[in-house]
Amino acid sequence: MVGKGIEIAAPKGKLGVLLVGLGAVSTTFVAGVEAIKKGLGEPVGSLTQMGTVRLGKRTERKTPKILDFVPLASIDDLVFAAWDLFSDDAYTSAVKGGVLEAGLLDQLKGELENVRPMKAIFDRRYVKRLDGTHVKKGDTKWELAEQLIEEIQQFEKDKSVSRMVMIWCGSTEIFIRAGEVHQSLAKLEEGLKNNHEDIPSSMIYAYAALRLGIPFANGAPNLTVDVPAFHELAEKNHVPVCGKDFKTGQTLIKTMIAPGLKARLLGLSGWFSTNILGNRDGEVLDDPDSFRTKEESKLSVLEHILQPDVYPELYSDFYHKVRINYYPPRKDNKEGWDNLDIFGWLGYPMQIKINFLCRDSILAAPLVLDLVLFLDLAKRAGMYGLQEWLSFYFKSPMTLPDLYPEHDLFIQLMKLTNTLRYMRGEEQITHLGLDYYQ
Ligand SMILES: NC(=O)c1ccc[n+]([C@@H]2O[C@H](COP(=O)([O-])OP(=O)(O)OC[C@H]3O[C@@H](n4cnc5c(N)ncnc54)[C@H](O)[C@@H]3O)[C@@H](O)[C@H]2O)c1
Repeated sequence: MVGKGIEIAAPKGKLGVLLVGLGAVSTTFVAGVEAIKKGLGEPVGSLTQMGTVRLGKRTERKTPKILDFVPLASIDDLVFAAWDLFSDDAYTSAVKGGVLEAGLLDQLKGELENVRPMKAIFDRRYVKRLDGTHVKKGDTKWELAEQLIEEIQQFEKDKSVSRMVMIWCGSTEIFIRAGEVHQSLAKLEEGLKNNHEDIPSSMIYAYAALRLGIPFANGAPNLTVDVPAFHELAEKNHVPVCGKDFKTGQTLIKTMIAPGLKARLLGLSGWFSTNILGNRDGEVLDDPDSFRTKEESKLSVLEHILQPDVYPELYSDFYHKVRINYYPPRKDNKEGWDNLDIFGWLGYPMQIKINFLCRDSILAAPLVLDLVLFLDLAKRAGMYGLQEWLSFYFKSPMTLPDLYPEHDLFIQLMKLTNTLRYMRGEEQITHLGLDYYQ
């Protein structure tokens, strides 16, 4: 121990999980939590449930589980609420999503049927490929935000939850650049009242959450809270926020491989990534405007990890292409292909091929669980504003404007575990290790 750490309030009572979008990721997450509670499965992929953190010297052999080291809410205390523009309950939506087997879903039917989505705030201008009728009505975006606030407060009362976290698991919205209306809280509030077109639905949910002091995570690449107006509101109301875009599948692998190439100073001349995907997410991303939001998120990763400005001989001219193809027969079981053209000693070329047959929502569900539990922890620890230590979970981690994001998965993990050590007053681990030999 080097200090007292941060005072963290105990996780008393129930934790409300507010899911925006009750599609493949959300239902796989809720069903997974219910299955784990019943002993029907293991929380594979979840750092909060299975991860450990090393404390002190290697010779001390102290590696407690993260859930024993920091006071996280128990999964038994999670209570779910959701919004969607389709009225299907979590059971029906999970069956339609086709991610989990019918045999498992049937054992969880009662719990899943209880999660019925509230009417969405939705406008087709921002997600062109979807159309639903389970949608709120209101003259202004401000009025819709007020309706949402009331609904959240009602949920809090009805379910007697003591704390809440909101997470955007809704579809990817069209590409929007940060504009004038996003520059301050006053301008954003004005824009909500004037129905400004650069305020998509996701920002209305986020506004309601932050107004109520509810931590917010963004699992999709849309801007949402990544603009100055929301940073201001998060600071003002002491709310932790993080995003954007769950790091799963192809980008997860990219952020594992690229740091390795750089570590060995192997050059890169091209990286071509393509995949086929047949779920509703794939259908939404088939629209060029939604794809553009995703593309921006996926492309920036390599540039930041490889640092062409620092290593011009190795990385200044690499060609990077990302394609997503909607192919219905594959449903949620995405297949990704990567071709890397690399070069070594004296510039001799080599190739790496990766063929990842993954399951998108199976990879995303544990991230939702971790983000909910870590954001709740941050809030109880008095941490607010951008939570850079949660970059580990995102393709486009949010940072302050003058900081570049860390995309390297292993730096991100170190940042996360060091933050946990810092919270508990434990020594930071630098891996210097000289003292063992002195
Ligand atoms: N699964 C992954 O590996 C992964 C990785 C990174 C990001 N994401 C993102 O996570 C999000 C969810 O993915 P998914 O596979 O569950 O998609 P999905 O299409 O199955 O589910 C999204 C749900 O959100 C609903 N929705 C859309 N706009 C809404 C709104 N304004 N209010 C309420 N509900 C709304 C849709 O009706 C749909 O049911 C997508 O944006 C996706 O791009 C997923």
